[in-house]
Amino acid sequence: MLNILAISGSLRAASTNSALVAALARNTPEGCHVTVYDGLGRLPVFNPDDEGERTPQEASALIDTVTRADGVIISCPEYAHGVPGGLKNALDWLVSRDAAVGKPAMLAHASPRSLFARAALAEIMRTMSFAMYEGGLEIALLGKKPPEVEAILTEPANELAMHDALVTFADFIREQT
Ligand SMILES: Cc1cc2nc3c(=O)[nH]c(=O)nc-3n(C[C@H](O)[C@H](O)[C@H](O)COP(=O)(O)O)c2cc1C
Repeated sequence: MLNILAISGSLRAASTNSALVAALARNTPEGCHVTVYDGLGRLPVFNPDDEGERTPQEASALIDTVTRADGVIISCPEYAHGVPGGLKNALDWLVSRDAAVGKPAMLAHASPRSLFARAALAEIMRTMSFAMYEGGLEIALLGKKPPEVEAILTEPANELAMHDALVTFADFIREQT
């Protein structure tokens, strides 16, 4: 069983990225389990002085969760042509550890825009030595309200797209190990 960790880069209650990662968790192929990380908003701001024995509990929990995962999926909005601070903060807690090194990772996109953030996130994650899967998944949910988001995410074509993206990402994970 492959254990995949999905992270949304948005803390918004009606987040389209969070809806997308939740839908991914409902459309897993056989042999995969997707767990959604919900601690982004509780992480202290990264400070290199707080590493080692001083690592805060929430940061340790994130590091352990990423370490245990076979792969990571991130779905993230773009703010001012960049990666939102909350997600970058989470990634910063992983930089000086082994958790990200060689860890298979895939990006999912809930917006057809966000091209600056996509490129920046891929560059950050490659720099951290994640093993980036070049394929990805895009389901356009930008500007949609929750009922419409759920309607789009339960369309059979989109359920199939999520399922298929997870199948190919799972193959990529197996190739890495
Ligand atoms: C402060 C702020 C800045 C934003 N800047 C951009 C931007 O530079 N480019 C873009 O495509 N969208 C931008 N957006 C729109 C969000 O990326 C978009 O609404 C996204 O779908 C929100 O994701 P969520 O539904 O998961 O919260 C911005 C939104 C906010 C709140």
